Amino acid sequence: MKVVSARFDIPNANKIEVAKAHGAYANLDEILKMPRMDIVDAIDKSGLRGKGGGGGHCGTKWKNMIAWPSQKRYLVVNGDESEPGTCKDKYIFNLDPHLLIEGIIISAYALGACRAYIYIRGEYEKEFQSIQRAINESKDERRGLEIIVCKGAGAYICGEKSALLESIEGKRGHPRLKPHNRAEPDFLFGSACVVNNVETISSVPFIVKNGWEKYRSVGTPKSPGTLLFAVTGCVNTPCVKEMPFGTKMIDFINEFGGGVWKNRELKAVIPGGSSAAVLTKDEVMKATLDYENLWEYKSALGTGGMMVFDDTISMPKVLLNLLEFYTEESCGQCTPCREGCGWGMRVVERICKGEGSKKDLQILKDICFMLDGKTICVFAPAVKDVIIGFITKFEDEFLALCKD
Ligand SMILES: Cc1cc2nc3c(=O)[nH]c(=O)nc-3n(C[C@H](O)[C@H](O)[C@H](O)COP(=O)(O)O)c2cc1C
Ligand code: SF4
Repeated sequence: MKVVSARFDIPNANKIEVAKAHGAYANLDEILKMPRMDIVDAIDKSGLRGKGGGGGHCGTKWKNMIAWPSQKRYLVVNGDESEPGTCKDKYIFNLDPHLLIEGIIISAYALGACRAYIYIRGEYEKEFQSIQRAINESKDERRGLEIIVCKGAGAYICGEKSALLESIEGKRGHPRLKPHNRAEPDFLFGSACVVNNVETISSVPFIVKNGWEKYRSVGTPKSPGTLLFAVTGCVNTPCVKEMPFGTKMIDFINEFGGGVWKNRELKAVIPGGSSAAVLTKDEVMKATLDYENLWEYKSALGTGGMMVFDDTISMPKVLLNLLEFYTEESCGQCTPCREGCGWGMRVVERICKGEGSKKDLQILKDICFMLDGKTICVFAPAVKDVIIGFITKFEDEFLALCKD
């Protein structure tokens, strides 16, 4: 079942006349006459989960936002797509931007939003041109709804929703402290808003047009529907493919990724963008692509971007590479994160150079303790999960490099 990729293979489906000939904006007049809460209820009952990495329940988020008193409301679409190994929103921007715009029109209507913002990764120049052209083409379909595209400037942390909102407001992209009240919505320019990923909003037209039951007819009871999964790294055919949640991970890697390249052995997979804990080969053979199953391995489905490693790859070096990234991208507000990422990187670098000792693994665990639950955003706890995954599941490789 194709929820968001139905027009990906149709030539020129990024142009409005082709997209319309294949169902884009169909029945929009009737949909925009529906009671708003009927649309919100359909999204709620579909069990649609946020596709930007967290997997939060979309219906609950929408209802909380609507219930909050606010003179104005905004819809914000997160297209920052900076998570390493993740390249799915790019496909929607390039191949079917009108699906996203249709999703924005329906969602903004249901949420009572007066304007929509799309925050797009700064490096996505081609994608920026594609979505901006589609916005210009869809003047009649938008019926006055203004959609503003904001470009990021290359900071990974601006994908975190509160940093993204700060950035749209023209401030430095620093995450905000989160409210204790979980029902409190996000705020843009002081007004209530909803932040959703590109793929989440692009799933809305399918659910509203085909019914929530249809969306729930695939996937698992707790992870219903589909996701644009990606496979990259040591595979024969890196790709992005929409599949139902619950698909076996190894089947996806073999069928769509073409198996491990050069006939080498599979060693490990990072399942959900780099911020999810790494899985061993044994775990990969058993794992299914849904939120609940991957939590059982103390990992996460995240963005569904799988990175495959073969048996020639040094796992300490992979961890070093990742920590270089996180050290560069920490926004620096919280001391444990700002200092801990760089410190962890230098310890792993020492081990990789053959200058480390067994004590360094304990130092890494101490750093992880400081990264967990003591910071403004979940960037630091995610780095902790990454480090713990590598040094516990591939401890032998780290120890083999230590001088003692
Ligand atoms: C460090 C960090 C980076 C993130 N980057 C992205 C991103 O690039 N794209 C995205 O959609 N969500 C990203 N998120 C998740 C967002 O904060 C937010 O939960 C999401 O956009 C909500 O949309 P959804 O519920 O539709 O997934 C990131 C979160 C963190 C902590
Ligand atoms: S945890 Fe790291 S990225 Fe998040 S606010 Fe603190 S310093 Fe910034």
